[in-house]
This record gives sequence, structure tokens and C-alpha cells, in this order.
Amino acid sequence: MLYLTLTAISTTLPGMKTMLDKKFWRNFSRNIWEKKALVLRNVKSGLLEITDAEVFDLLVLYADRCRKLNDPTGFKFFIDGFKAEEEDVLQVLPEKQDKSLLGYHARMKALFPDYCLVCDELLQVNHKKQHLLTEFTDELYRHVGFPNRFSEMGLYLGNYRKTPFGVHVDSCGVFSFPVAGVKRFRLWEPQYVKKNPSLDRAFKYEKHKKASELLEARPGDMTYWPSSAWHIAESDGSFSATWSLGVWVDQPHKEMISDSLKGLLAQKSGAAGNKVATQFKKLHSDSGEVSELPKAYLQTIELLQRLSVEELQETFLKSWMQHISSQGFKTVPSAPVEISAKSKIRLRSKNSLILWQHSLTSKGVVYFSFGGVTVAGKKSGGLFKLVRDLNHGNPCMVSQYFTRSRSDLRALQTLADAGALSIEKDKGLNRQ
Ligand SMILES: [Fe+2]
Repeated sequence: MLYLTLTAISTTLPGMKTMLDKKFWRNFSRNIWEKKALVLRNVKSGLLEITDAEVFDLLVLYADRCRKLNDPTGFKFFIDGFKAEEEDVLQVLPEKQDKSLLGYHARMKALFPDYCLVCDELLQVNHKKQHLLTEFTDELYRHVGFPNRFSEMGLYLGNYRKTPFGVHVDSCGVFSFPVAGVKRFRLWEPQYVKKNPSLDRAFKYEKHKKASELLEARPGDMTYWPSSAWHIAESDGSFSATWSLGVWVDQPHKEMISDSLKGLLAQKSGAAGNKVATQFKKLHSDSGEVSELPKAYLQTIELLQRLSVEELQETFLKSWMQHISSQGFKTVPSAPVEISAKSKIRLRSKNSLILWQHSLTSKGVVYFSFGGVTVAGKKSGGLFKLVRDLNHGNPCMVSQYFTRSRSDLRALQTLADAGALSIEKDKGLNRQ
């Protein structure tokens, strides 16, 4: 049985910061993670050092990109709890002329008495600030494990009185970091909602308030609730902006295993694997007993018996590498750059290495992963040396590693498309 108990930890003296150090994370993973809610005051974290002015600039940057592409993907806008149509969302995004979050709010408030702007993964689309997020998640993952699904960081902004979809539960644990205004979250234990199913999607819950816990946080604070907690955000109609990090916990290990094996089995079963009907001798005996396997299944058993430990190891290692190459996020910042033999390139971020491994079953083959994609190269090829030099933080001239290998260049372009690389500009050109 799981008890949701609010633990408002405020151990520091006024003015002192709460450090998210090893001791904190050890205690968090042992006593809080997926067990209890938490409010932490005055937290020291790079994430909380992003000012509201910087958040506004990030929003405008992303909104400008959406306007240019005529595509609001990444933004959602709710008016009185109703989701706005995509074409309307482009009309209500933050603009440079708003000057600040409050400027944007003033413009929106005049149009809508109750609005909510959600920007999914705002930090994930920004290269410069992304490390502040990964510094936090890297520590979290080190202590509670790497998520089999992913994490998502969204910004929630507006004067909405209630979460637009009412009281609900997600399959993720949620960390919240208010940027502006006071944020209130009301939580219920899963056992209580089971006994009171009318709370599901409810906006009116006066009689259930006594059974709830109220988390209140201001800029500088952090809240957390486990994936089992039913919740709703509340406000008196004043403005607030909050980062929300959802860590999804709905993908069990067995799914990781079956997903990894799918590719291997498809490859092993060859043409027989594509057959859409199965030949058989007899479906069942007169008494209804089914005891005879069709030939296709017997052949599959033989095939499975022939699988070597190396093949299994390689399959799992490859999919594990591909999985962790997204750094535990749904989206990896992409910065499409065109690579040619003449390009001088470097890693986009020294914290986001191109991962690699030797093939265990094909001699001389090396696999490379970045941002959830995997490509193959040769151990003797230029790409292998290039990747290791890039991972050391060196700027590299592509032509010094390969000029004629089309497959290496193609593989490098795939890694670049996934966001691994940036073009090194000649510093001489930038001198004033
Ligand atoms: Fe939620």
C-alpha cells in the first residue's frame, strides 16, 4: 500500500540554499521517489537560476521559430479550459514587443480572462540552457535509474484557475519549479480516488478538499509528486509560470527486452518471417486438443536455439546505447547542419558525446549512436577516429579523416541531423 504524505522539507535557515547534493539525492531515492510528495524551499540548482527574463527570451525564440515555420508544434494554448486550434495558437504566442512575461500576460489577460500556454520541452530545444536540465536529470537518473521511457520538461504559463483537464493522474513523477508567481498543486492519494471516482477529471471538488494535500511553491522552490498522485493546479486568477519536469515510469523492463528482440527476430526469420498465413497439417484432434506445431513454428524454435550469447549481448547493447543516446529525453535538440568533406566540425555540446561500441558479431564493425539514432562504420575507417577526436572536444576538419568514403560521410550526416555536431566557424572572420 502506498501512502502519499506531504513532506515539506525546509531545513535551511532563511537566506540559505538547499543543496541538491549526494546526501539529498540518496535520501530522495530511498524515501521520496515514487513514494511521497515533497516541497523543498530555496533550492540551489542551475535550473532555478534561469531568470524570468531568460524564460521570456527562450519563449520568444521558440515562438519566432514556430511563426517562421507556420507550425505551432510544441505549444498548446487553452482558453477557459478548452484547447485552441493549431492555427489560432500561432496568433497568441509571446512576441518580442511584449518585453517580459508580465508584458505577455497583460496582452493575453485583455483577450482572455482564463488562459494557459504550455510549451513542451522548451529547454530541450535550446542548446545553451539544455545543460542546466541535464545536470539535474543526470543526478536524478544516477540515483533512481535511467527512465525506460523518457523525461519531458514543459513550461506552464497563465492565469488559469484550474488545470485545463481537471483532477488527473499521469504515468510520470513530476518535479515543478515556479519561475514567476505562486504555484499551488492539490494532490490526492490513489486509494482515495479509487473510492471516490467522481474526482476523475473533476473541476469541482469542494467536499474532497479535506482529503487532499496542498503544495505551495514560489520561485526558488521545488515540488515533487510521485506518478500515483492525482493532482490539479489551482490559482486565484493571478499570473504564474512554472517549469514542470515529468519523468515517465510506464515502460517496464520486459517491454525494453521485447522491443530489442523484435529487430533481431525480424532479421533472423528472413522471408519466412514475412508470411501472413501459416501452413498446417491438422488444427486439432477430434477431442479438441491442440498438440501439433506447424512447421513455421518448429523452424522458429530452431532459429532461437541457434542464437548465440554474443548475438543477444550485441542486440541488447545496441538498443541500450541507442536508448541512452537521447540522454533520457523525448526530444534531443536538433540543429541541422550540412556536412561536407570541407567542413570543420565539433561536438555541439561537450556533455553530449557520440556513443559508440564494437560489434560483437561482425568483425571490424563499429556502431555509433546519438539522439536515438544508430549508424554503422568500420573500425579501420576515418569515422571511428573522427568520432573519438570529436568526443575529446577537438574541432576536426572532415577532410583529414575521409574524403572519398561516401558511407562515412552519410553516417556523419545522420549523426549531424540528430543534433550531434556544430560547424566550427573560422574565428578570424568574426574579428571586428
Ligand atoms: Fe499532470
